[in-house]
Amino acid sequence: MVVTSSAQSPRRILITGGAGFIGSNFVHHWCKTYPSDRVIVLDALTYAGNLNNLTTLKERETFRFVQGNICDRALVTDLLQQEEIDTVAHFAAESHVDRSILGPEAFIQTNVVGTFTLLECFREHWQNRGRHDHDRFLHVSTDEVYGSLEPDAPAFSETTPYAPNSPYSASKAGSDHLVRAYHETYGLPTLITNCSNNYGSYHFPEKLIPLICINILLGKPLPIYGDGQNIRDWLYVGDHCQALDVVIQQGQPGQTYNIGGNNEVKNLDLVLRLCELMDELAPELPVRPSKTLITFVRDRPGHDRRYAIDATKIKTDLNWVPSETLETGLRKTVQWYLTHRDWWQPLLSNEYQAYYQQVYRG
Ligand code: NAD
Ligand code: TYD
Repeated sequence: MVVTSSAQSPRRILITGGAGFIGSNFVHHWCKTYPSDRVIVLDALTYAGNLNNLTTLKERETFRFVQGNICDRALVTDLLQQEEIDTVAHFAAESHVDRSILGPEAFIQTNVVGTFTLLECFREHWQNRGRHDHDRFLHVSTDEVYGSLEPDAPAFSETTPYAPNSPYSASKAGSDHLVRAYHETYGLPTLITNCSNNYGSYHFPEKLIPLICINILLGKPLPIYGDGQNIRDWLYVGDHCQALDVVIQQGQPGQTYNIGGNNEVKNLDLVLRLCELMDELAPELPVRPSKTLITFVRDRPGHDRRYAIDATKIKTDLNWVPSETLETGLRKTVQWYLTHRDWWQPLLSNEYQAYYQQVYRG
């Protein structure tokens, strides 16, 4: 179902992390849905940021890309003022659990200190320019802050206590608490969303779904951590973008909204489904059937067993439900990786190979 937002356009929106996976999908969504809005992307272009995700927007007059760090207070302050920003959509983060285990420091810097810096800059800007009814600060977060669920436990709701288990989820939890505090203390018009695992186009190769698609195309082993029985609740990225749009336009400042796809699947079952789709859709594969490439590898330390989102609040309050089923979303995603080798091949750089060796050396 597609929900039409009661848009308060035109907005002047700063999108941090807009060259990453979800951020770039959101930038495309916003530019298409609100063509007269001013859209500024601030992104440091870390290993996960990719200007190729935004190529088609380069010539647009209403669009501007700025390479820079969210921890750079002077830069953020200048941008907010110069561009008279009224809305921040904050995606910038270190986002990969396995990298947070190898090196947590960058996660604290960007996710905690970076979010704090943005909040401080936006607070000053919002206080100085006079508060407007439609000003918003959207903080995009994850369901991983809630920790791990037992098999029969109810899904995470907005009132589930935080219990993060990885440096990544702990740093996101820290940032969520800061955002909440800026609403309670200063009245900043903040919104927090906690979303389940996303998948779709422009997803960096290190994450499970693109990694499996790419390894199948290259005839490489498909690494499954532990027994493959861990459960994630998958949401197609386009549905996430639509939900964030609705939250910005209609959400109640100070509120948190959980976003999920109602698609709980065990990792092994997901990988088997991807293998079937590749076998069906790829004209040529180095190894067939793809499932013969499946390899069980050493488990991730602190690996959360199950995530599941209860998305009742966003459905009831904002009338949002996802449009894609797991079947339609996975099919689109597999097609995208099949037809975008020119996008993913250059990402398998020496740096990426070194990272891969470190994680999968057994
Ligand atoms: P990503 O890693 O693909 O992209 C992150 C982007 O942020 C990159 O473009 C990177 O260059 C940029 N960035 C990193 N550090 C920066 C800094 N200090 N200053 C400026 N830019 C910086 O991440 P993603 O998967 O698109 O996730 C986006 C957001 O959504 C994150 O906050 C993440 O926690 C959250 N989230 C992700 C998922 C998921 O399944 N991927 C699910 C729920 C929530
Ligand atoms: P990932 O895409 O890294 O997302 P997250 O850890 O944020 O949920 O991983 C999704 C699931 O897949 C998670 O349970 C870990 C597992 N996984 C593997 O089994 N093998 C892999 O190579 C990767 C990257 C993940």
